[in-house]
Amino acid sequence: MSSLRDRIEGLRKAFEESARKAGDARALEELRNAFLGRKKGHVTLLFEDLKSVPAGEKREAGQLINELKDFVQEWLRQKAASGVASVSGGGSITTHGYKTEGGTDLTLPGRKRYVGTPHPLTLFEQEIERVFLGMGFTIEEGPEIETDYYNFEALNFPPYHPARDKWDTLFIKGDLLLRTHTSPVQVRVMERSKPPIRIICPGRVFRHETPDPTHLPMFMQVEGLVVDEGVTFAHLKGTLEYFLRALFGEKVKVRFRPSFFPFTEPSAEVDIECIVCGGRDAACRVCGGTGWKEILGSGMVHPQVLKNVNIDPEKYSGWAFGLGIDRTAMLALGIPEMRYFYENDLRFLRQFGTK
Ligand code: PHE
Repeated sequence: MSSLRDRIEGLRKAFEESARKAGDARALEELRNAFLGRKKGHVTLLFEDLKSVPAGEKREAGQLINELKDFVQEWLRQKAASGVASVSGGGSITTHGYKTEGGTDLTLPGRKRYVGTPHPLTLFEQEIERVFLGMGFTIEEGPEIETDYYNFEALNFPPYHPARDKWDTLFIKGDLLLRTHTSPVQVRVMERSKPPIRIICPGRVFRHETPDPTHLPMFMQVEGLVVDEGVTFAHLKGTLEYFLRALFGEKVKVRFRPSFFPFTEPSAEVDIECIVCGGRDAACRVCGGTGWKEILGSGMVHPQVLKNVNIDPEKYSGWAFGLGIDRTAMLALGIPEMRYFYENDLRFLRQFGTK
């Protein structure tokens, strides 16, 4: 036992002496190998020898060897931390004098990591929701696969009526189709609730369209519906104007234009000034040079629609609108191409939301 103790003490001294001279990373690496090397390191060999130490002394001997090992490791660690790098992988002081660890220049700037952000359309939809929630509306949802009844018939489109052609429908099977607008949710909500009703319903809609800068076969709408006693067209106009100013700013130019929908009477479409060209580009692919772009349809709920859901049109009246979210977002954000929203190009998507 005493001879083992002497050997340990001798090794500690030898280590200290060599350590004092070790000036660079290579020397430190050699030192580490000489003492801690996995096959022939001095400390490693001591552990081998431990096997032949009598049972009664094993514990103490083991402790001493461990202390030496800790001492060597700690010394090497401190030396590395203080500037002269140790370790494997060719680590050394770089030509600029920067510290390295395992061959890595610790002063290199880190790689920027991108955290995902909500999709610009999601953000825009949330903005729309915020404005309507502030006016006391609640949010409803409805299915994307609809029946002919909810998408058309209950909305006062008789079967085979030519007005159906305006909604280029994607049929599934029999009575089922992909909803062409969010208006069927009006019917579902009125069926299950009593006035006063004040809701919006955002969601995806589908049409058999050829894509171009302002049309896509799948896009998003938000439907709005108010039903109560004494509701007039003035409420419709005031609410939509307030909403559009909240979204686009006080100075935005909007116009109401007479229109037709089977489920509203009278009906109006709302155009907004073309924010992409400002009305100055006769060849603008967004507004076609007119300076205006249609963003929503609206009107007073048709008495027949109220009857279809057992609401008395003599007592109640209502107004509704359906707004194209993608198209409105394009104009709000100055994006000339609706397809960008669905191409998943990160260079586009990363410009929105928090970075
Ligand atoms: N659903 C109509 C469309 O998609 C818009 C609309 C909604 C019109 C509600 C009037 C009232 O074009």
